[in-house]
Amino acid sequence: MNQDKMPLLRAVMAHLAMGYAAYHTPAHRGGLAVSPELPEIVGQAALAVDLTELPGLDDLHYPRGAIAAAQARVARLFGAAHTFFLVNGATAGVLAALMAATSPGDRVLVPRHAHRSVWSAMVLTGVVPHYLLPRWHPDWDIPLGIDPADIQLAVAEHPTARVLWLTNPTYQGLSSLAPATVELAHRHGLMVIVDEAHGSHFALHPDLPISGLEAGADMVIHSGHKTLGALTQTGLLHINRGVDKHRVAAALALVQSTSPSYIFMLSLEAVCGFWERDGGEKLGDLICLARETKGSLRQGGWQVLGDEVLAQPPVNGMDPARLVVGNGNGGAVLAEAFQRAGVLPEMAGSRHVLFLLAPGDRGDGAGVLVEKALALLPALEGKTWPPHPAGAGCCTPQVVLSPREAFFAPRRRVKLEGAAGRIAGEMIAPYPPGIPLVAPGERLTPDVMEEIKRCRLDGVHCQGPADPKLETVDVIDLPGL
Ligand SMILES: Cc1ncc(COP(=O)(O)O)c(C=O)c1O
Repeated sequence: MNQDKMPLLRAVMAHLAMGYAAYHTPAHRGGLAVSPELPEIVGQAALAVDLTELPGLDDLHYPRGAIAAAQARVARLFGAAHTFFLVNGATAGVLAALMAATSPGDRVLVPRHAHRSVWSAMVLTGVVPHYLLPRWHPDWDIPLGIDPADIQLAVAEHPTARVLWLTNPTYQGLSSLAPATVELAHRHGLMVIVDEAHGSHFALHPDLPISGLEAGADMVIHSGHKTLGALTQTGLLHINRGVDKHRVAAALALVQSTSPSYIFMLSLEAVCGFWERDGGEKLGDLICLARETKGSLRQGGWQVLGDEVLAQPPVNGMDPARLVVGNGNGGAVLAEAFQRAGVLPEMAGSRHVLFLLAPGDRGDGAGVLVEKALALLPALEGKTWPPHPAGAGCCTPQVVLSPREAFFAPRRRVKLEGAAGRIAGEMIAPYPPGIPLVAPGERLTPDVMEEIKRCRLDGVHCQGPADPKLETVDVIDLPGL
């Protein structure tokens, strides 16, 4: 293994070579001491490098040595002014970015299809959201992204807003990010934060959609494990010039462990080394593989979301490695059929299953998918979906209390029938796609009530409600509300 460009690995190896008698945490002592099963489960090599802030190993919360050098190398790879390693998932980056950018009471512009960690961030910061509703694909029933015209309107309507939050791409890999949108937000004094958890590889190949950093965003959150290949629970928070690095570090110190995993950090360093060395070639191969796989699936009779989606505003790019596949059946039916055939998709939407291709999938990996998919098709009678009603997908939220106020407010359980007009005390988000019909602090408007009743009637699985049957709903129990 070439350690030349891996300062953290070099430091760890130098530490191990010293052969110190260890009288410090972790108590597993390199895996030898406590559980005989542990080395078998996670491997002796991993346990040996499961270290802590020892001499020469730097400190993630105050990096001056090997970790600082490793982060600087990753920043160069992605074109960031500075990069922070995340050891509590992309979630930690989402929380810290919003905490660094806002103060309690600030208004932020947030896509309604943002990941739920953004809602957590709003609880922690005490900001007040103005939600941007995504445009919707009429046939596939998936969000397309936020139209720049809607952002323009929102910026004009909320001149004191501090942050424009963007999700690039959607779960299904659709991008609508445009440098002009970032410029517009900057002209109006907004900071732009891009959650790029599913597009962390975008900056690494010219044929992929534009990345948040290329578009000029102030902060960009990447997931280490979703598309970069690092270990689960890793991520990166990149900042651009002009962002207060010390403020971001202080926010990260609030939400990340004080004992960050060296295994996680080494995995980030290693995969970024891979992308730096081989990224262009491997992503080129992946793009070709994805094109071939889509072609084979289509030829075999499956519908696959393709480049035609680029004609649907505001989409201006798509991740070729995300395969949105359907045949008119419900996504859950398809996912179950694939699972029975030994193939696990990433997720099921109402009308599709989503498969992710990764650089390791070469011909064989995708070959299995194509072979199984074609074998399954005859048993799955295809249907034609009616177009999804225009404007469907999201109810317009009426925010009465901020997420933070709602989170800490007293609540009471009432019959759903008696809840109209009250303020929701819980989130009700049909899953998939997980976009809330209503979030705590928002009014249960006639539209929302109708949608909740429809979910109850159809037995739609919803995340959030205390009563999964939706006979009752938690509402805020404050005087006047
Ligand atoms: C868009 C988006 N952002 C952030 C996250 C949080 O990532 P993690 O689970 O790594 O904390 C997810 C997770 O699915 C996500 O989909």
